Amino acid sequence: MHIIFDKNSKTFFLENKEISYVFKIEESGFLRHLYWGKRISRDSLNHLDYFTESQSVFLGDMDRMHPIEEYPLELGSFGNRGDYRESSISINNLGHRTLDLRYKSHKILSEKPEIDGMPSLRDGKTLKITMFDNVNKIKVDVFYTIYDDSNAIARRMEIVNLNDHEIKIEKAFSACVDIIPKENMQAITFHGAWLRERMQEKNDITHAGIEISSTRGVSSAQTNPSMIIAGANTTMYQGTAIGINLIYSGDFAIKAKQDQYGRIRLTAGINDEDFDWTLKKNEKFSTPEAVFVYSCNGINAMSQSFHNLYRNHLINSDWVKKSRPIICNNWEATGVDFNEKKLMRFIDSLKGSGVDTFVLDDGWFLGRNSDSSSLGDWIVDKKKLPRGLEFIIEYTHKAGLKFGLWFEPEMISKNSLLYQHHPDWAIKSNTIASEGRNQYVLDLSKNEVCDFVIDTINKYLDTYKINYIKWDMNRYLTESFSSELGTRSKEHHHRYNLGLYKVLDAVIKTHPDVFFEGCASGGARFDAGMLAFFPQIWASDNSDAYSRSIIQTHTSLFYPLSSIDCHVTTGTPNMQTGRMSDLTARFSVASMGSFGCEMDFSKLSDEDKRNIREFIAFYKKYFQTLVLSGDTYILSQMNDNNLWAQQIVSKDKALSAISILQGLNKPIPEEKRIYPQGLVASACYRIMVGKQEKLLAKLRGDTIMNAGINVNNWPLRSDPNGIGLNFGDFVGQTLILEQEENETIEKD
Ligand code: DGJ
Repeated sequence: MHIIFDKNSKTFFLENKEISYVFKIEESGFLRHLYWGKRISRDSLNHLDYFTESQSVFLGDMDRMHPIEEYPLELGSFGNRGDYRESSISINNLGHRTLDLRYKSHKILSEKPEIDGMPSLRDGKTLKITMFDNVNKIKVDVFYTIYDDSNAIARRMEIVNLNDHEIKIEKAFSACVDIIPKENMQAITFHGAWLRERMQEKNDITHAGIEISSTRGVSSAQTNPSMIIAGANTTMYQGTAIGINLIYSGDFAIKAKQDQYGRIRLTAGINDEDFDWTLKKNEKFSTPEAVFVYSCNGINAMSQSFHNLYRNHLINSDWVKKSRPIICNNWEATGVDFNEKKLMRFIDSLKGSGVDTFVLDDGWFLGRNSDSSSLGDWIVDKKKLPRGLEFIIEYTHKAGLKFGLWFEPEMISKNSLLYQHHPDWAIKSNTIASEGRNQYVLDLSKNEVCDFVIDTINKYLDTYKINYIKWDMNRYLTESFSSELGTRSKEHHHRYNLGLYKVLDAVIKTHPDVFFEGCASGGARFDAGMLAFFPQIWASDNSDAYSRSIIQTHTSLFYPLSSIDCHVTTGTPNMQTGRMSDLTARFSVASMGSFGCEMDFSKLSDEDKRNIREFIAFYKKYFQTLVLSGDTYILSQMNDNNLWAQQIVSKDKALSAISILQGLNKPIPEEKRIYPQGLVASACYRIMVGKQEKLLAKLRGDTIMNAGINVNNWPLRSDPNGIGLNFGDFVGQTLILEQEENETIEKD
């Protein structure tokens, strides 16, 4: 990867093996975007000048010929001489709102600086460009980072007020770029709800624009901070796909809109709807980091680029390569209704199952017998656990298991001792205090509240031998106000998130041996900001195999499989959907991520127990390492084909696993094949079906990838080698493709 500055043409070339990102400093000092796409030579791109005679406002003293709206830009500032496109930065300087930022200097940095108080990517090569407004005395540093193991460009800004008086930032997006589309472009976005996270939507990007955003204080289940801009003809494996993702967990907006010249202005960052920020003399404001991945080879390559980037440069490097614990959590089996005896039975039944961590979920603290009380009172409930937490922990450890504990540290119940002592710690306004799931959110914009949370969790981790924390968050922010902020309440949501990052940093850094998993009513805060702290996040409270095949696949477009926590539950019909699916199907879907269980083994039939034990052993043998480090391929999507198939291939291409799920059964169905990817064309692979590892065929990679594998061999149940998918609804299977070590198949 390189960052090159051509002095003659004043052009920056950011490039790696596959992509180039090119922009130049105009005479006027604006940063003009020139090119973003497949790697090109470092030629002058002046021939791309495009100017019209449109009826616009002209640049006056700078350029009497060309209105600024005609320039594709890298930074769009508000009020700037007739640039009516979405701006990326807007300030109010004693009423003056025309920001005139011009290039001042640049530096190619030897090390990527961290962002104050926020997570960001590590490594890469970084360019810092300083832009300056001489009249408003405002400095803006624009950062670009490029990587060689991912086609990502990371971008962000820092704004400094050099006035003696304070100014107000009204908008500060992380990045802005004008894309010159090669074809009609569409935006793929991810909406959802509790139990239905990250559903996919596709819309043309027109002059009306597309915008996704959150004002919930949290990235949310309703919209994920991610967007794909893809050509109308782009597929998983062909065409242009630009992925946008924010390393941020709070209110965000990502906008894409065509301008009058058919270009798409793309902006991404903190949502400006309920935001402003007062900047005093010499103070600095940093935006979160935005990540843009460019793929010339379809959506799947974009997704792999994100996986490499986040595994190598975002997720805690102590954990990223370590096998994830195979947990069994008691939530779906017991809810808050448990006692010491029940838990002991639960733990006993896990012996020999292959599960290595028992996680005690919600309900272990003072008076927590329903969701209507006790959050904040992190004192062990002696009625449920008379011998204390230490007894259950020791009991778990003696059973050969690790111990995990659930917390919801950001919350306070009205019915709690904490609320009696600190009613002002709950976020509420002067008119109303809405409860969500019978609880309030703690005001993490206050230092003393952050200190309380840090001390509470740290005390537990220092006192008890806890190996794993599940960090839950079950409601969004409402009525944002903080007594300490007063009139600056539009800063509140961002300050809440800065407080949260501070807390997570303080707790996690001091306990490097404890594994932290994120959760928010299922997957309501599944974002790259959280991923920097939690190597793994609970993807959804919906554990139905069919729903999960959709939720997990969309999640995996941006976030690596190892970060997606997937559990098999006992419920059939499923607790959340009432849908029936057999254990093989549920296992097959849950294997495409960090696998775990939510069930009481003591209540399982011997056959189910044996089956689950075998499934776990099978997962450990083939999937566990692949999930951590393999390349992921989406072979078929449930919504498109009534068939889901996802594949992982080891980096050396010697091993691959495929999980498959059928939607509704169709008698005498159309022939369906899946086409595996990423194998060595000339190598011979054993294709094995299910945990029985039944040999289906031995074939060369090119045959498998091009002729495909038939997934509806018929008649099914009677065919011992059949994959057997079309007998029944929501049935699934796994395939293992393993390279024959010493066998070469000669070419004819
Ligand atoms: C929501 C989580 O998603 C569940 O897994 C469980 O931990 C409950 N909260 C407990 O209240």
